[in-house]
Amino acid sequence: MGNQSYLLEIGKKTASINADARALQQTAIYILLPLALVILLIQIVYNRYLLKPLGYIIRSRLLKAGFPFNQQVGKLKSSTYDFLYLDESISRLMQQINYAFEKEREFSSNASHELMTPISILQSKIENLMADDGLTDGQYKKLEATMHIIRRLKKIVNALLLISRVENSQFAHQDVLKLNEIIEQAVEELQHRVAQKEITLQIQLSPVSVKNVNRDLLFQLFYNIINNAIKFNKTGGSIYITDQQLNYKSYTVFIEDSGIGIDEQQLGEIFYRFKKGTTRIEGYGLGLAIVDSIARHEGIILNVESQKEKGTKFGIIFGENHL
Ligand SMILES: Nc1ncnc2c1ncn2[C@@H]1O[C@H](COP(=O)(O)OP(=O)(O)O)[C@@H](O)[C@H]1O
Ligand SMILES: [Mg+2]
Repeated sequence: MGNQSYLLEIGKKTASINADARALQQTAIYILLPLALVILLIQIVYNRYLLKPLGYIIRSRLLKAGFPFNQQVGKLKSSTYDFLYLDESISRLMQQINYAFEKEREFSSNASHELMTPISILQSKIENLMADDGLTDGQYKKLEATMHIIRRLKKIVNALLLISRVENSQFAHQDVLKLNEIIEQAVEELQHRVAQKEITLQIQLSPVSVKNVNRDLLFQLFYNIINNAIKFNKTGGSIYITDQQLNYKSYTVFIEDSGIGIDEQQLGEIFYRFKKGTTRIEGYGLGLAIVDSIARHEGIILNVESQKEKGTKFGIIFGENHL
């Protein structure tokens, strides 16, 4: 007014500001929240859809695959290049592992076959030499020592040959048999060693029959485990052979000894070829490698618990397909 300048401020009452804010908050709650939920939902569904090929790869290639990877799995259908690439790489890797495994299997099978012939020839040549009347005592003793080594060699090669024959599935498994009979037969064959070591051996088994197994291989499996229970036992020790049946779905035979036990670190390696504990006790470290390959072939699960200086307990578990 006049030359005087005035500042005109136009404001709202706090009450009307509050009312606006409330309206805004309501909009946020009623519109933004459902919107966020819808977006989240779309994202979940979309991710599921997008990641479906990955789920397929994990399920069909990795989870279901049992070694050796022989089963045929269909090609992945996806438009995403990365998934196709991943699927192809995993398939290729599996093929390479299979190929390497086959090669190794073929090699050990051929090597043991090829070794057997010269060893047998060597054995019969030494036998002929030993039959010679003109030998001195010293010469005869040396030949005998050589013969001992050849027998050892033959046992090793025979064991390797057996493993490779089992791994090449050269044994049918269609026998039905009573387990207690097989076990008693194995114990019978080892009886002289049980007596020698003054071991108390007790068998408490129910007359359970198993099917889809190979009689000779099963005998070998029990023989090797019981043989170890004697071999690694103390003089005057004990062996208990018992069983347990779980609701007709699984049947377990336990072979428990009071022997020297196996330490934890060694426990993971006892089924490997040529792995053996003490060098004091004679052995080739192939007994349990044979047991392992037989168990895999027959679909039997093995369980070992052991305590150093206390003893070892083997569980031989038969599943539904055997009962
Ligand atoms: N019942 C057992 N008690 C203690 N140690 C055992 C028993 N069974 C196996 N082992 C250990 O596992 C190793 C591998 O066994 P195995 O393959 O039968 O070979 P080997 O009997 O020729 O030594 C043995 O050398 C031994 O150290
Ligand atoms: Mg053994």
